[in-house]
Amino acid sequence: MPTKPANPAKRSTKMSAGQRAEESLRVLISHSRIRARVRQMAQEIRRDFPDEPMHLVGVLKGSILFLADLARELGGEVSFDFISVSSYGKGMDSTGEVKMIKDLDVSIEGRSVLVVEDILDTGLTLKYLLRLFEERKPKHLRVAVLLDKVERRIADVRADYTGFVIPNEFVVGYGLDYDERYRNLPDVCVVRLGPGGKTKVEA
Ligand code: PRP
Repeated sequence: MPTKPANPAKRSTKMSAGQRAEESLRVLISHSRIRARVRQMAQEIRRDFPDEPMHLVGVLKGSILFLADLARELGGEVSFDFISVSSYGKGMDSTGEVKMIKDLDVSIEGRSVLVVEDILDTGLTLKYLLRLFEERKPKHLRVAVLLDKVERRIADVRADYTGFVIPNEFVVGYGLDYDERYRNLPDVCVVRLGPGGKTKVEA
């Protein structure tokens, strides 16, 4: 039988797996809130595409937990593919440049494509992806993002389905990383430096 999750406020005082001594985490969105919202998002998507086979395109690597949960909630006919692009240098600053690292395995022509992203930040990655995918003539092209940092937007893009609008704080967990750590946290957390230290924010 699963154990009851700890109180998030208490949990944030403990060291999490992969956590360095100088870093602390504050839960921003608990796993139970994420689970409930992902279920609602799946219902919204299925209301729009009730009988359509949905081809989910996950943007590696941050989207994988969201994609896995969303796919299970969607039901019906669902297929997956993954693309990898890079828009960030090491650490926390965006270079603004988007590079293809791994393309899709199969054609999206004629398919109902749902791009699945963990976070929409400047929007430069999504703009690049939408331009690329539109040229490939999908039947439908929609976007689902779990987190939207609206105030960071540079590119004129928006998601069709959004989980949570969040402030401009550096978040990790539920797929999101800080130098490849914390992706396995069930909650979305804000990283803080030191006991009374500054919250890490984007440049
Ligand atoms: C993150 C996220 C998006 C992108 C959003 O990926 O998954 O793909 O940044 O940022 P933007 O809106 O400013 O373009 P990241 O490059 O951190 O890779 P990861 O998913 O492998 O962690």
